[in-house]
Amino acid sequence: MRKAKFNRWVAVAAAAGLAGMCFSQTSGPSVRPGNPLVGITAAEHELFRMGLEDFTEVETAEDGLGPAFNGNSCAVCHSVPAIGGVSTMTEVRAGYRDEDGKFTELNGGTLFHLFSTPPHRCQVQIPPEANVIARRAPIPVFGAGLVEAIADETIIALEDPEDRDGDGISGRAARIVDIASRRERIGRFGWKAQHATLLAFSGDAYRNEMGITNDLFPEEVALGVDPEQLRLCSPKRGIEDVRDRRTGLRGIDNFENFMRLLAPVARGPMDDSVRAGESLFQTTGCASCHVPVLSTGTNQNPVFDRKPVALYSDLLLHDVGTGDGIEQAAAGQDEIRTPALWGLRFRRPLLHDGSAATAEEAILRHSMEAEGVTAKFRSLPKVSRQQLLAFLDSL
Ligand code: HEC
Ligand code: HEC
Repeated sequence: MRKAKFNRWVAVAAAAGLAGMCFSQTSGPSVRPGNPLVGITAAEHELFRMGLEDFTEVETAEDGLGPAFNGNSCAVCHSVPAIGGVSTMTEVRAGYRDEDGKFTELNGGTLFHLFSTPPHRCQVQIPPEANVIARRAPIPVFGAGLVEAIADETIIALEDPEDRDGDGISGRAARIVDIASRRERIGRFGWKAQHATLLAFSGDAYRNEMGITNDLFPEEVALGVDPEQLRLCSPKRGIEDVRDRRTGLRGIDNFENFMRLLAPVARGPMDDSVRAGESLFQTTGCASCHVPVLSTGTNQNPVFDRKPVALYSDLLLHDVGTGDGIEQAAAGQDEIRTPALWGLRFRRPLLHDGSAATAEEAILRHSMEAEGVTAKFRSLPKVSRQQLLAFLDSL
């Protein structure tokens, strides 16, 4: 049965002329983590350079940092093994679940900032009524422009919300309104697939991670802090992310450009064990959700036009028994978007909350929709398990 979905991605890949599964855009010694995509123009190289500069820039209260924030630059949480990657930091979301399991936001949101700028009169605090507290680990942005260029229809074609094929796996596409274009789109970024575009995520992160208001997120937030006090804590008036007079670009445009043009992490060395593990990844059923290759749609930019994206994800929301109890955008309490597995060898700890130390531990934590697949993994002979793990280590 699982074949149905496997065949679907083969069909998607074949339609884009990728039947031979070519990873050319991500492989080769020249592509190091942190490098831009191969084949971009000189003008794009310049956008990438300016974007990288802003992504690593450390902001201060004078620039608009805070009053509540989680980090003072994008790179503090996205720097391993290179700028754009991850860090071991986790941030906190919280809320309230009543006896019937209904979720309510406390103080109008779920993100409870870790830090505040001095004199700390706007430090947020998790209210005592909160009975759901969840941690979230960073997600690397290598190859994010290719993920953004995947057409909504490609993701929709993979969903099976009613589990019609009876394989126990019922992924759902995250239908959201993109705050950048105000259009209905399919979310694919974030653990809850809460955003469809890098511009929207940039606006969200600039305000929510760093407290820098921008055209997409114009209001300061510090959950539970009195509005008058919040005004006193934010001496800067108006939108903090202003256009650079010379370039005409805002901070959020620079972040978008950097992430869009950042190359995916190239595959590690392959050997027989890795190749055996790759076919076990499929026969065990991992590929039902961690779909090896999706294709970008048609795109005016040749770098993004009908390209294979070897991300190992269907970008759908699933319940694999690890849900964080938070409702956000289109995602329910139990749902998490299948994470891409490319670059996995550079990423520890694992799972949305960083609670798994090893890939094997992460796999063994999959239940619910992945119950059957996890059972198959458990019953594999030891050598096969090791091959599957060797494959993951090559990503
Ligand atoms: C305090 C740490 C922190 C800082 C600072 C931070 N991020 Fe993140 N980033 C995260 C975490 C945690 C997630 C996962 C969030 C979630 O889904 O709830 C994430 C996810 C992302 C994603 C989604 C990637 C994907 O493929 O799903 C993007 C894009 C992103 N961040 C961009 C940025 C940008 C741009 C900045 C700076 C404006 C930034 N981040 C600053 C921690 C951080
Ligand atoms: C039903 C869909 C589904 C199936 C089947 C599935 N996964 Fe996952 N996988 C997920 C989801 C969703 C997560 C995120 C869970 C979380 O973070 O709480 C995940 C997380 C992971 C992670 C951690 C990645 C990270 O960035 O933290 C690894 C590794 C992984 N899966 C490997 C596998 C392997 C190997 C198999 C087959 C044995 C498999 N998965 C089968 C959906 C699935």
